[in-house]
Amino acid sequence: MNVEQLVETAQAMVAEGKGILAIDESTGTIKKRLDQIKVESTDESRRNYRQMLLTTDGLGEHISGAILYDETIRQQATDGRSLVEVMNEQGILPGIKVDTGAHPLAGHQGEMITEGLDGLRTRLEEYARMGARFAKWRAVITIGDGIPTIGCINANAHALARYAALCQEAGIVPMVEPEVLLTGDHDLDTCYEVTEGTLKALYDQMFEQGVLLEGSILKASMVVAGDRCEEQASLDQVAEATIQCLSNSVPAAVPGVVFLSGGQTETQATAHLNCMAQMGPHPWVLSFSYGRALQQGALVAWGNNSTADNAEAQAILAHRAQCNGLATLGQYEASMD
Ligand code: 13P
Repeated sequence: MNVEQLVETAQAMVAEGKGILAIDESTGTIKKRLDQIKVESTDESRRNYRQMLLTTDGLGEHISGAILYDETIRQQATDGRSLVEVMNEQGILPGIKVDTGAHPLAGHQGEMITEGLDGLRTRLEEYARMGARFAKWRAVITIGDGIPTIGCINANAHALARYAALCQEAGIVPMVEPEVLLTGDHDLDTCYEVTEGTLKALYDQMFEQGVLLEGSILKASMVVAGDRCEEQASLDQVAEATIQCLSNSVPAAVPGVVFLSGGQTETQATAHLNCMAQMGPHPWVLSFSYGRALQQGALVAWGNNSTADNAEAQAILAHRAQCNGLATLGQYEASMD
């Protein structure tokens, strides 16, 4: 394990005022996004869309890295450069989603286990050769009647830690993502308890598998009330609950915690991050690794002109990246939107 390189990459991922652009939707998920804007999902349309995002002027000012899907890391831009080269020229670290998706967990009605450990060592070696500097693995924890169970939390925590150890062996920084879904009618306190239990199980397993925390990044969900809960929490309540939960369960050796947006609107995700940053200093850098909350506006604009150089869509992405970059410093204001 090259400790120095891992630590350096992890710190670069959460460099001051910067965060991660998640564009690692699987072929099935990106099709749903493109269906929304009535663009047919083909390898060319997916390439054009992602090339448009990655070639946004000055994107590297607020975006430290972008997470790609297997298809994208192998694709070339219309001018013949690989998309990895495009990213390197923009000063954006290439990342890669390496799990193979969440599947029903046997014997656990309504719960999921993320798969992809078989053959992962070989795949990581190939991704490292292709220029990937960090990876992502997403576990899904569902809140519902009698769930999540300890069995589901532990199985997912174990897989995340095994994945993280394999990444570090290949010189790739693992981004570990135990996403507690915001769908449901549960309240804020329930989300808090589930998130805390999940993170504690994760860091137990990270310790058992010998993962170097300084060379890893946590991708976390915020502590929020379920989307069907009658009592929605305020901005401050979400920020306070999330910080308290992380403080109780994430070791200070972890250099950065980046949030997923998970179904929050673009401005909500930015405002929540900003509020948490203002409550600092924290033991870890707080930043973002948003998918929908960075892309939604740009995606809609791209629907009107789905070429690889749609400047209107790029301007919308650049603005969201800037707002979120400022939010990591607690300097975002709602009037900017
Ligand atoms: P969202 O921000 O759209 O939740 O996506 C982030 C992500 O990469 C989930 O794995």
